[in-house]
Amino acid sequence: MNNESLLKRRFRLIGQKAPLFYDEPLHIVKGEGVWLEDSDGKRYLDVYNNVPNVGHCHPKVVEALSKQAGSLNIHTRYLHETILDYGEKLISKFEESLSMLFFTCTGSEANEVALRMARSHTHKKGIICTNATYHGNTTAVDELATIFHDGKSISPNVKAVEFPCSYRPVNGLSGKALADAYAGKVKQAIEEFETEGIGFAGMLICPIFLNEGLPNVPAGYMKKISRYVRDAGGVLIFDEVQSSFGRTGKMWGYETAGVVPDIVTLGKPMGNGHPLAAAICRADLGNEFRDKVMYFNTFGGNPVSCAVGLAVLEVIEQENLVENSRQVGLYIKEGLNRLADKHELIGDVRGKGLILCMEMVIDREARQPATLEARRLINLMKEQGVLISKIGMDDNILKMRPPICFSRDNADFLLTNLDQAFSRL
Ligand SMILES: Cc1ncc(COP(=O)(O)O)c(C=O)c1O
Repeated sequence: MNNESLLKRRFRLIGQKAPLFYDEPLHIVKGEGVWLEDSDGKRYLDVYNNVPNVGHCHPKVVEALSKQAGSLNIHTRYLHETILDYGEKLISKFEESLSMLFFTCTGSEANEVALRMARSHTHKKGIICTNATYHGNTTAVDELATIFHDGKSISPNVKAVEFPCSYRPVNGLSGKALADAYAGKVKQAIEEFETEGIGFAGMLICPIFLNEGLPNVPAGYMKKISRYVRDAGGVLIFDEVQSSFGRTGKMWGYETAGVVPDIVTLGKPMGNGHPLAAAICRADLGNEFRDKVMYFNTFGGNPVSCAVGLAVLEVIEQENLVENSRQVGLYIKEGLNRLADKHELIGDVRGKGLILCMEMVIDREARQPATLEARRLINLMKEQGVLISKIGMDDNILKMRPPICFSRDNADFLLTNLDQAFSRL
């Protein structure tokens, strides 16, 4: 079936505005490792998809899924070993303080549970997020989706503070003064919630601010805000739906941020494509919530999902993928910096592990976002057989986020193609 007729059916069924990548949408029919194949048999290097984190259709994950699906799949109101085997293995990878979990099916639901826990614990409603973020699609979580609401909060119960950024620093500050200025905005928001009578319940952020554009965070900022949040009795929630499972060259994003939160939420890469997510929390918070609320999630933590999650963790260990992410990520970053020496449109290169961004600007002095050029570049890359994307309020930040089994050969292919695409722009 050709793309035209697929589009026609899709528009009628799920609407013209349902998001699609690329000026000419792709019809992908097969995935293997870091490669995708379209309906014409053309292959693409996947430098975008963090969901199939250990590689598309990894045989060990597929085998675990099929085996469990062939014996039993059911909800969690019966006893079953796999939820415990998986849960214990997962929890063992966190700090001791993060020792309890709630299984869900999506990152949005995991964030929803985290917000409910924070609000129930504090008996207050006020949540702080950043002004260029996305944490999911439920009603409560959508109140934090400032990237789709012009950087503003749409609820009196949510305040959006400026995300910390060293490339476009507030008031031209740098170093400690910059960290203090951004952290001061968090302190101010906490105080405002209290004077408004809403009260402060917690702060929910991605520890690497990926949807904001993966900014270089001024040193000291994370420690400072975590102190402000805790001193005010709030709950610190890290949304690790994107920053987890080795993405940053460490297992968890909070390790790169240098701060342990009270709740971590997980999703996307957790099931390598299978819908599996969770909120990992301090036991006192989790038990307090369970005492007050009968939280039940029909599909969350089912035996098939847990068998898949367990297989994903085993593959990460057996193939040493966290270290691979760190090493190959460093190699790519060096290559991106060389490209920045050559191509004026690259204003800034940022990254940790296999999450890498390049901010495109029209001129390096004024740092005016090169939005159209970024769009053209990702379409050129697609034409050349490499899938990347873009993010940020101005859609000018190239986002590279491949499965973490990405090799140096894959990295060379990416870098050669980026060089060519920038030359063609
Ligand atoms: C940081 C972050 N949190 C949460 C979500 C929502 O996850 P889901 O689509 O699984 O509900 C997303 C999705 O893009 C995300 O990027």
